[in-house]
Amino acid sequence: MINPLRGMKDLMFEDSQRFMHIIQTAQKVAKRYGYSYIETPILEETALFKRSVGDSSDIVSKEMYQFEDKGGNDVCMRPEGTAGVVRAFISAKLDRQPMKQKFYYYGPMFRYERPQKGRLREFHQFGCESFGEASVYEDLTLIMMVSQIFKELGIGFDLLINSLGCPACMPPYKERLVEYLTNIKEELCEDCNRRIGTNPIRVLDCKNEKCQTLLSDSPKLIENLCESCDSDFKKLTALLDDAGIAYTVDTNLVRGLDYYSKTAFEFVSNEIGAQSAIAGGGRYDKLVEFLDGKPTPAVGFAIGIERIMELVKMPEAPKEGYYMGAMVPEAVEQIVMLANQKRADKKVSVEYNSKGFKSHMKGVDKAQARFAVLIGEDELANGTVWIKDMQTKEEKTIPLDEF
Ligand code: HAM
Repeated sequence: MINPLRGMKDLMFEDSQRFMHIIQTAQKVAKRYGYSYIETPILEETALFKRSVGDSSDIVSKEMYQFEDKGGNDVCMRPEGTAGVVRAFISAKLDRQPMKQKFYYYGPMFRYERPQKGRLREFHQFGCESFGEASVYEDLTLIMMVSQIFKELGIGFDLLINSLGCPACMPPYKERLVEYLTNIKEELCEDCNRRIGTNPIRVLDCKNEKCQTLLSDSPKLIENLCESCDSDFKKLTALLDDAGIAYTVDTNLVRGLDYYSKTAFEFVSNEIGAQSAIAGGGRYDKLVEFLDGKPTPAVGFAIGIERIMELVKMPEAPKEGYYMGAMVPEAVEQIVMLANQKRADKKVSVEYNSKGFKSHMKGVDKAQARFAVLIGEDELANGTVWIKDMQTKEEKTIPLDEF
């Protein structure tokens, strides 16, 4: 028997309904905020992710589904959605137009991580990317949008925010941090030691408790921001206060992708275990330029669909449509024909075997149908159908053409 690959899942029945409910709810909100749908390929040149997510990030250095295709190209299954959308934005020359662009997307992402609860190798994201808007109002708007999506899905959350500075304040901060880390090097874990040389900022979110204690006195970026980053961050926190959105400033929130500058945020839930991040995002003002486009400020987020699946409160599905069946074999064909006519605009489930009344009524229940429609011996002889409204319990027999 062939099973799905480790860390990959099939979705069906109640789960697939939940999945679609999440996508549809998020999509509805995104459209209200002026976002239009974008679909980009799952397979991209590996260089795209190396240059955007970053060579030294865990995602690129350890977790990529990377291979050489039959044409000898170095390709990779996308580990996240932003890089592809930025690539598409530049490919379509939208960076050379003055118009602001807003895109939403959803689909599978691939990371070769160690699977555990809430961590898959194939998972799905719903994401939004906004191009051309440098205002901190846009950062606020995106945070409000994620909050709105979670509100409509009935999900509670905590919001963590931080600023990751810009090319003016990040490099001098990095220097100070490296100096601090070098002094405590011997006591830090192996991963942290490696990162001092490759990506020192990531040391800040090391999960090792001993490292975290050692880092409590480390220089904080938030205290070393340049004037512009500092004023934007203060404005954002003031706006969040005004909007009544609770948040925590987490100076260790650095995100696992290298393209961020200024605002970074994460939505977390304390109801789903260790993998608690249910959405993440932030500003990436330098990425379009970095991928050879014209300088374009941008900000976005992505929600992890699988992580919120168990948190979503599903609305009760109303009984709808018809269940149709025959109680004598001679009426089966008529029922099948009628059902297919009705399907022009109604949901219909049809039983091809002639059965007794009780058995059909079980079928009505299983199909969650609003109406039961049966043809028995009498109905067949008289050219009628028997119909019962399962909600009002009203029953009647009506001529076929009226039905
Ligand atoms: P990310 O934080 O890497 O950001 O992923 C976003 C969300 O995807 C996470 O908060 C989590 O819910 C979910 N996720 C990540 N990895 C896994 C996994 N292995 N299994 C299940 N769920 C997972 C990004 O990907 C950025 N592209 C977000 C963004 C958009 N930033 C700006 N625009």
